[in-house]
Amino acid sequence: TSLHTFLAALPKAEHHMHLEGSLEPELLFELAAKHDVTLPSTDPAFASPAALRQRYDNFQNLDDFLGYYYIGMSVLIEGSDFEALAYAYFTKAASQNVRHAEVFFDPQAHTSRGVELSTIVESFKRAQARAETDFGMTTQLIMCFLKHLPLSGALETFAQAKDEGFFADGSLAAIGMDSSELPFPSPMWKDVYAAAKESGIRRTIHAGEEGPAHYVTQALDILDAQRIDHGIRALMEGDDELISRLASSKTLLTTCPISNVKLQCIPSIAAFPLKKLIAAGVRFSINSDDPAYFGGYIQENYCALQESFDLSVGEWETIAKGSILGSWCSEERKTQLL
Ligand code: ADE
Ligand code: ZN
Repeated sequence: TSLHTFLAALPKAEHHMHLEGSLEPELLFELAAKHDVTLPSTDPAFASPAALRQRYDNFQNLDDFLGYYYIGMSVLIEGSDFEALAYAYFTKAASQNVRHAEVFFDPQAHTSRGVELSTIVESFKRAQARAETDFGMTTQLIMCFLKHLPLSGALETFAQAKDEGFFADGSLAAIGMDSSELPFPSPMWKDVYAAAKESGIRRTIHAGEEGPAHYVTQALDILDAQRIDHGIRALMEGDDELISRLASSKTLLTTCPISNVKLQCIPSIAAFPLKKLIAAGVRFSINSDDPAYFGGYIQENYCALQESFDLSVGEWETIAKGSILGSWCSEERKTQLL
């Protein structure tokens, strides 16, 4: 419909996009060849970029996806790989009128393979500077820790980033946590969130994606998380106390509808709790999560929702403005964008 053109043109902010999740199969194979990285030969999905794309259509759940996600990112080795990855995403996002993006990365998945934290951060920063010059797009990095690794690794990675001055100099805007959810409830991460809070660093966490609503409550109570990535299970379970709390505290849920369908967290886009979010007055943004794996960038997520929910122009303007208002950029930048 004509609203798709309108949705593409709408100035937007994106808050939930894993840079490693923007690694398209073609670049993945190109970098594997460049670095002589052997992809699993026993899995027919790694026969070609096309075969891999086909496999991406059949994720059974979050962990099934994560298996491919961590293999995929093992081809990122040199600084130029990280820079190319981020710049390709910024280029695509700018073409869809993303004016401000807050993007995740998973340092532990790279430092564990011998890539230096400073190489990763400095390379992303080069891509960010180019995006600002070339597209007038502002971007911020959110460093995520991996829930399937011990707390000690998160604490060490946090300490290293802090020691290298990446929070103080603004290279890193916040911390987050991602990866497998069900076996790793929010309270496990208390110490690293306490350390971040003590240093005045912003905090978000993936919760209520595949895991239950009470992981979201715990993230607020025990981690003092200021933002929740996904969080849809709060709405789906109808946890009214939590829903009113999210609304009254103006906590932003960074939601990812296509991702939720692809990882079978919901059966279809029609099951995405969009009307509940709006009715309850919960702040939310619409995002792409891992666009190369789920087959859609931000615009495709906006359009998929429009296909199922047929919102008005006014409702979409409120959503897009809300994404800018919910951003962690300066108030001055928000004013520019509104
Ligand atoms: N890492 C990358 N994408 C993720 C997701 N959707 N949930 C948890 N961890 C992730
Ligand atoms: Zn995510």
